[in-house]
Amino acid sequence: MLQIVPVDARDDGRFTVWYSALRAGATAGRHAPIVVSATAMRSQLLHQTRAVRHAVGAFDGDQCLGTAVLERDTQDNTHLGELDVNVPPEYRRQGIGTLLLQQLLGIAAGVGLTTLLGEVNVVDETSPGLAFTVRHGFHSVHTENRLVLDLPAVTRAD
Ligand SMILES: CC(C)(COP(=O)(O)OP(=O)(O)OC[C@H]1O[C@@H](n2cnc3c(N)ncnc32)[C@H](O)[C@@H]1OP(=O)(O)O)[C@@H](O)C(=O)NCCC(=O)NCCS
Repeated sequence: MLQIVPVDARDDGRFTVWYSALRAGATAGRHAPIVVSATAMRSQLLHQTRAVRHAVGAFDGDQCLGTAVLERDTQDNTHLGELDVNVPPEYRRQGIGTLLLQQLLGIAAGVGLTTLLGEVNVVDETSPGLAFTVRHGFHSVHTENRLVLDLPAVTRAD
């Protein structure tokens, strides 16, 4: 049975499965994606400072089918939260992203946030992030181009 539950970063096995799902969802279909490393994410969750992160996962037994993180600052812009929802391609369009987002909305309301921000990477017209967020009431306020130059591999002679 699918359950949306908080992630305990002290639980190695659980965290590893959760992070793999985050990475699979965040990198799918993208060229040279930049995704937070497992080490950095674990450290951020274990050592909460003024930036607080709420991490949840969609688990079916030991399997993780999707992840969501809400980040907020406890000192500046305390009305704002930034969210990141990731569902691996094989589990998409089954309502999992929506369940994860709803969980974050509940957490956000509970701590008094009034505005949520998110970032989506749009590769082409099939990229799901924009359709998903617009479907849930977000609107786009800012667009950036991400430029990539692939360099030839360098082989050292020495
Ligand atoms: C965006 C993402 C989280 C959606 O997860 P999901 O589990 O597939 O989402 P849901 O099944 O709950 O979709 C809810 C609704 O969003 C819209 N939607 C989602 N994916 C879509 C797609 N590929 N094309 C068009 N609409 C889409 C639809 O309205 C959908 O409802 P429907 O399936 O009944 O038509 C997932 O595709 C993903 O991880 N993408 C990469 C990361 C990302 O962009 N995250 C979002 C912003 S933080």
